[in-house]
Amino acid sequence: MSASGTPIANPSSRPRILTGDTPTGSLHLGHWIGSVRRRVEIQSTHECYFLLANMHAFTTRVEESASIRRDTIEIVRDYLAMGIDPEQSAITLQSEVPAIAELTFLFAMLLPFNRVMRNPTLKTEIELKGLGDKFAFGFPLYAVGQTADILAFRAVSVPVGEDQVPHLELTREVARRFNQVFCGVPTDIEDHEHVQHGGVFPVPLADVGKVGRLMGIDGKNKMSKSLGNAIMIADSAKEVQKKVNKIFTGRQSPTEPGDTSNALFQFVECFITDQARVAELKDKYSRGDNIGDGHIKAEVAEAINALLAPMRERRAMYEGEGSDARIIDIIMDGTRRANRLCEETLLMAKQAAGLRFWPRELRLG
Ligand code: TRP
Repeated sequence: MSASGTPIANPSSRPRILTGDTPTGSLHLGHWIGSVRRRVEIQSTHECYFLLANMHAFTTRVEESASIRRDTIEIVRDYLAMGIDPEQSAITLQSEVPAIAELTFLFAMLLPFNRVMRNPTLKTEIELKGLGDKFAFGFPLYAVGQTADILAFRAVSVPVGEDQVPHLELTREVARRFNQVFCGVPTDIEDHEHVQHGGVFPVPLADVGKVGRLMGIDGKNKMSKSLGNAIMIADSAKEVQKKVNKIFTGRQSPTEPGDTSNALFQFVECFITDQARVAELKDKYSRGDNIGDGHIKAEVAEAINALLAPMRERRAMYEGEGSDARIIDIIMDGTRRANRLCEETLLMAKQAAGLRFWPRELRLG
């Protein structure tokens, strides 16, 4: 699609993908390695929608609506810095796609309550965030909402991290159930043949990234802003150097044989692009061939700064006075494109479910 809103994507020639983020603040290198890098790669070959799941942020932060709003804008600033091109990819604001909310209600009828509550990602979140039995009704509902996020776009593939796989399983179940109950798709039809047999929804695949999670500079936990072990996309070159110097290895001397499965070497492998150099560093390190951690850290910091330099430049174009308004314009354009597609899906779904009584037209954005 172009900025003016005319479709440049031909859905039949470019597979449609959707993925999303719950806005929790600015992004770090873990987001780059784990997901955004792949999005930047596929945006020219796929019809891409990137959803800002701002309603999901309300599940646990209903009293922080102002910071959710700031986080939503900030994440877009980081997307743009990292090279997501809003001309190619539609950056979409969940709360302004009414079809998602409507489909959530309908899909909630297709899922047994206990099936939703068995979702291991929800269970882990309840534990990690200490929600106990005090969580909002909307908290488990977000899992149903996520099935609507994906199916509203009739996406065929969803690039996600491992932790999201249970949500994708739920989504696949909703798609199958809907197609069987409302579109007459027989129960013995293979997932990839549902649409061919009259189903409204493709049964989407989870596209799980091969790279695991990037470790934080503490060398122990995965990189996370709240754990204070993250290198942020917006960090200065100096900050990057300082943080890389802190990467914990526990190694004592340059002649001690080192463990190349440690956090430092995950950074070497992720950020040093010269593969011959990576192999050489690994070889010397594992033999303790007079190579100090400090030396390796200097090379890692340089490599990270080479990656971040163009991101800093792009970011600068979306900072300062009036930049929030420009970002909101970008989101509005992406959301408009998304709504054209999602309203069409909603119409198809309502038709199938006997919910279409008269035509309607919404003015969206
Ligand atoms: N739950 C996802 C996360 O926290 C974010 C998300 C919301 C999402 N809707 C989505 C991911 C749809 C993929 C597809 O990371």
